[in-house]
Amino acid sequence: MTEHDRHGARQPERFNPERAASLNERTRFDYLPPKDLISLLGLAPKEVLIDFGAGTGLYAIEIAALRPEIQVIGVDEQEKMLEFLSENLVQSPLKNIKALWTKDERYSRLKKTADGVLALNVLHELGDRAMEEIQTLLKPSGKVLFVDWNSEIERPVGPPRDHVYSPQEGRSRVLDFGFSVIKERMFPYHYALLCGVKN
Ligand SMILES: C[S@@+](CC[C@H](N)C(=O)[O-])C[C@H]1O[C@@H](n2cnc3c(N)ncnc32)[C@H](O)[C@@H]1O
Repeated sequence: MTEHDRHGARQPERFNPERAASLNERTRFDYLPPKDLISLLGLAPKEVLIDFGAGTGLYAIEIAALRPEIQVIGVDEQEKMLEFLSENLVQSPLKNIKALWTKDERYSRLKKTADGVLALNVLHELGDRAMEEIQTLLKPSGKVLFVDWNSEIERPVGPPRDHVYSPQEGRSRVLDFGFSVIKERMFPYHYALLCGVKN
C-alpha cells in the first residue's frame, strides 16, 4: 500500500515489526480475554473468521484453539508480520487456521467469504481504503468486531493516547463507512464495536 492508501488513519505510520515481540505476550489476555471476543463475534460452527491485521497471530491462534469448529484466516499487509505469524503457526497443531499476506493473489478470493472479521488494535492504523476493504471481505450477513485502544484511558500498555481514538471517535469512524453498530462493550483499556455491514 502507498502512503495515500492510509489516508484517514489516526496513526498513518505502519506498525513497526521490530515491536512484534510485544504482541506475543499472553498477559494481554488478562485485560482483553479472547473468550470475550469470541462471545461478541457469536460465530456458528463451520463459519469463517478473518483476523484483519493479525500481526503475530496471538489472538487468531487462541481463538482457533478455543473454537476448533470454525475456520480462522489471519491476514496482514506486512510480509514480515506474516513471517512471524507463520512461525507461530508451525509450532501449533491446529488445523483450522491459516495465514495469508494481503498481497498474495489468493487474498482476492476472500471477498464475501467472511462470517466474521476481527480488527484488533488496528482501527487507528486503517486508512479509508482499508475500511472499504473490510466491507468487501464480509458476507452480507457478516459482522466485524473492531476492538481498539481507548484514548480516554491512561494505560501502562499500548500506543500513545494521541495515536488512537476515543470510543466516540471510533464509533464515528465506522459509521462514516456505512457500518451499523450492533453492540458496544468496554474493556479496561479497550472499546469494542460489533458492526454489521451495509448491503
Ligand atoms: C498493532 S498490530 C496488531 C496485531 C494483532 N491484531 C494483535 O492485536 O496482536 C496491527 C497489525 O495490523 C496490520 N495492518 C495494518 N493495516 C493493515 C491493512 N490495511 N491490512 C492488513 N493488515 C494491516 C499491521 O501490519 C500489524 O501487523
